[in-house]
Amino acid sequence: MRVLVVYESMYGNTHAIADHISEGLRSRHEVLTASVRDSLETIFDEFDLLVVGGPTHVHGVSTWATRKAAREAAEADEGLDLDPESGGLGLRDWFKTVDGHRSLAVAFDTRLDASAAMTGRAAKGIARRLRRHGYRLLGEPESFLVDKQNHLLAGEADRAERWGEMMATALTEAMSTH
Ligand SMILES: Cc1cc2nc3c(=O)[nH]c(=O)nc-3n(C[C@H](O)[C@H](O)[C@H](O)COP(=O)(O)O)c2cc1C
Repeated sequence: MRVLVVYESMYGNTHAIADHISEGLRSRHEVLTASVRDSLETIFDEFDLLVVGGPTHVHGVSTWATRKAAREAAEADEGLDLDPESGGLGLRDWFKTVDGHRSLAVAFDTRLDASAAMTGRAAKGIARRLRRHGYRLLGEPESFLVDKQNHLLAGEADRAERWGEMMATALTEAMSTH
């Protein structure tokens, strides 16, 4: 099967998680990994599974204003680097370019290490948008955690790879019963 992994990332965490998820998916499938900017020319019909992830900003999916705030925070803080793929569209605008589809999809996010009731979860908003576009969800939205200094917690990269492997197996099973 063919899988497209699309990510938005300001500081690189969601980008790194997308790469690890892609590694896990590659155990069984052909995988293309692209930032929101690079996936604009993609023909979605060519993929059996769409995996979409972004950072949690103000309890949900980023906005133009939160992306601007993230850029300004990086300019003011030497310890915070912008991801090379951080320019261009955010997920909200990217979704406007996605046509309706009947294939499978699943959502993930990165967020702070605290109760989801406190932090919010971008993955829930991403999953809602995927459903609205006609996708069937292959699994529950998943979060990967960072600390207050914006570093992925130890073990999250491995967990992302294992989650990718789980989604790879779920995709094979879903397609064989379809
Ligand atoms: C403007 C802004 C707002 C944020 N709001 C939240 C939030 O509401 N909940 C949360 O858990 N994390 C929040 N964060 C932290 C990000 O979710 C976290 O740093 C994420 O891992 C960044 O992913 P990235 O490195 O791919 O940009 C916020 C970060 C920024 C820059």
